[in-house]
Amino acid sequence: MTSKKEKLSTEPYKGVRDFYPEDQAFFNYLLATYRSVAERFGYVEYHASILEPSDLYKSKGAENEEMVNEQTYTFVDRGQREVTLRPEMTPTVARMVAARRRELGFPLRLFSIPNVFRYERPQRGRLREHWQLNVDLFGSKSLAADAESIAVAADIMRAFGATEDDFEIRIGSRTFLNNFLKEKGLDEERGRKFITLLDRRSKISAGDFHTQMHELGIDAPSFDQLPVPSDVAEVIELVRSLGIHNVRFDSSIVRGFAYYTGVVFEVFDTHPDNNRALFGGGRYDNLTALFDDEPITGVGFGMGDVTMRDFLEVRGLLPAYLPPTKLYIAVASVENVPDALTIAQELRAQGVAVAVDFGDKKLADQIKAATKHRVPYLLIVGQNEVTSNTFAVRDLTSGSETKLSRKDLASFFLSL
Ligand code: HAM
Repeated sequence: MTSKKEKLSTEPYKGVRDFYPEDQAFFNYLLATYRSVAERFGYVEYHASILEPSDLYKSKGAENEEMVNEQTYTFVDRGQREVTLRPEMTPTVARMVAARRRELGFPLRLFSIPNVFRYERPQRGRLREHWQLNVDLFGSKSLAADAESIAVAADIMRAFGATEDDFEIRIGSRTFLNNFLKEKGLDEERGRKFITLLDRRSKISAGDFHTQMHELGIDAPSFDQLPVPSDVAEVIELVRSLGIHNVRFDSSIVRGFAYYTGVVFEVFDTHPDNNRALFGGGRYDNLTALFDDEPITGVGFGMGDVTMRDFLEVRGLLPAYLPPTKLYIAVASVENVPDALTIAQELRAQGVAVAVDFGDKKLADQIKAATKHRVPYLLIVGQNEVTSNTFAVRDLTSGSETKLSRKDLASFFLSL
């Protein structure tokens, strides 16, 4: 009897994704769109390692208990150092800015598109590894910086083809909430409960919200009627002056991280099938104080690729996949492979992306492979074509053919 070895699963690790060419093509489109908008606003790209000392997420000020205790991938390395796969980029960029505070020019505009890891229960819009555009501005207290951050976010949405009806920008204020807590005389613990309750508001019923507010000694209806805080009002006015109108104050926008200190915002999808927060950010005054005494204020946001893809998918805004390869060269028989190779090489020299079949399978199967790869054009190299120096270029979508001499092939593809 032959012993059957148990085979490994082809599934990726739980909550992470494989990027097959179509996924990677979409991802590249996402990166290119993020980059072009961020750069248009004067932001420059940086990068850092996935690995950070775990202390970065434990120190007072950076704390987010749920994140640190339950959601990080943390391990001890061979040198007994506690290491964490970054769950977000903000502490890292704060560290980098603090490290070079004397050399860097302020206001400093930075962006990055890192992968980040969170041990969350995988579900729609939530995975264990995602890629997150981070756009941050350091060293300006001006509310114009908060408004700029929101404008970058809105322009990215537009660059993806979204209109103002497709999403809504809801703005809140930590300053306002902190003042409110002080006024009501809520202690730290009840203050935290209040913030958590606001953060969960959209996930619970109105009745539960009212009851829990009441337990904290707050009257929900009168809380909801408080006037728009002055910082939020100013940011909304600035954002509107930039031609962005789908913004409004929402007192329940608080954001999960403890480091936010000022204006905070979340962008919501308005589609009934995907009615959820897409991404968000805000002002954080003290994060660089983890590294030295003089804090540098920061304002920015993080935009994940998973929620963005869902958003585009629901709205039919995903671009159609087209491989970079323009032409597939099939061969009538293996004898034609050397000719196919030289023709391909001539075309490549002129800038055409060409893949060659090596004739392992019969012609019909070679053509099937070209179709599976979604290559738009096919050319068959056989003895007749080589002798006559004329090739039929087949459009694999329509089936139509164009007869061309060898020297005219490149210009045909370059003019597409
Ligand atoms: P965050 O809200 O935790 O903020 O994450 C920002 C965005 O990343 C989310 O709105 C969502 O688009 C995406 N995201 C978060 N967790 C997951 C997940 N498990 N799976 C898929 N996507 C996810 C921050 O991380 C802040 N550091 C952002 C920031 C930058 N604030 C200022 N600057």
